[in-house]
Amino acid sequence: MNTDPPVKPSVTPFFHAPTGTWSYVVADPASRAAAVIDPVLDYDWRSGRTGTKSADALAAHCANERLEVAWILETHAHADHLSAAPHLKSRLGGRIAIGRGILQVQATFKRIFGLGADFAADGSQFDALLADGDRIHLGAIPGHVIAAPGHTSDSVAYLFGDALFVGDTVFMPDGGSARCDFPGGDAAELYRTVQRLYALPAETRVFVCHDYSPGGREPRCETTVAAQREGNIHVRDGVSEASFVEMRRTRDATLDVPNLIIPSVQANIRAGRLPPPDADGVSYFKVPLNVLGRPL
Ligand SMILES: [Fe+2]
Repeated sequence: MNTDPPVKPSVTPFFHAPTGTWSYVVADPASRAAAVIDPVLDYDWRSGRTGTKSADALAAHCANERLEVAWILETHAHADHLSAAPHLKSRLGGRIAIGRGILQVQATFKRIFGLGADFAADGSQFDALLADGDRIHLGAIPGHVIAAPGHTSDSVAYLFGDALFVGDTVFMPDGGSARCDFPGGDAAELYRTVQRLYALPAETRVFVCHDYSPGGREPRCETTVAAQREGNIHVRDGVSEASFVEMRRTRDATLDVPNLIIPSVQANIRAGRLPPPDADGVSYFKVPLNVLGRPL
């Protein structure tokens, strides 16, 4: 049995306050091999303008540290922010990757958004589609893909050395867990995903994808498997699958559709690219009327 202590990558978090999203740069300090996780493209819904200020701060860090970005990783097709993966790829290089379940997500939203034959629901917009057990090492740091369905069917977690990037599964212990009411979401599946993540060593560092500052505290991004198992308000040791599913269903029924789901999903199923421009050279998002959410 391997009893070596786990290798520790460096982890640099970046907080996007408008959407409560944490992005990360994870790197092997020795070889400078790095991955970017869940980068955010600024988007003003009032004007329909995109911006790269937040992503450029992350790119500047990579340049200053002379990191070699091998991967730009999505934990899933986000419904609350647009991905900056294509912008960062053009600045830093690296391959844009997401979980293999994106095929299902693309098929679902191709239908919901009435996308035409020019949108291929085959994952070809990404450089790599990752599956459970795939290895994505960064220099001397072992990297593993862990399928993490529940919030969405394409969700994956990434484990680099002792650092686990959980995407939208659990939040900080006082923030609980991610909603499971999007198409392809399933609360029982999320419970089983979380049990798998909680089976990792207790000291594993856990980095969350969102923090909404419960109780008005400062945004936080890092905890441990031990802290989650002891104190996560939704799913800790002793909470049964049935009670978790009941809690999630009740809670999800009260949640509004995310502010940016309509633009976010249309970009993110294209690996973060905007829809192809119309004849006038302008890209447009479509708004399906009376399809998403509950009747008013
Ligand atoms: Fe999400």
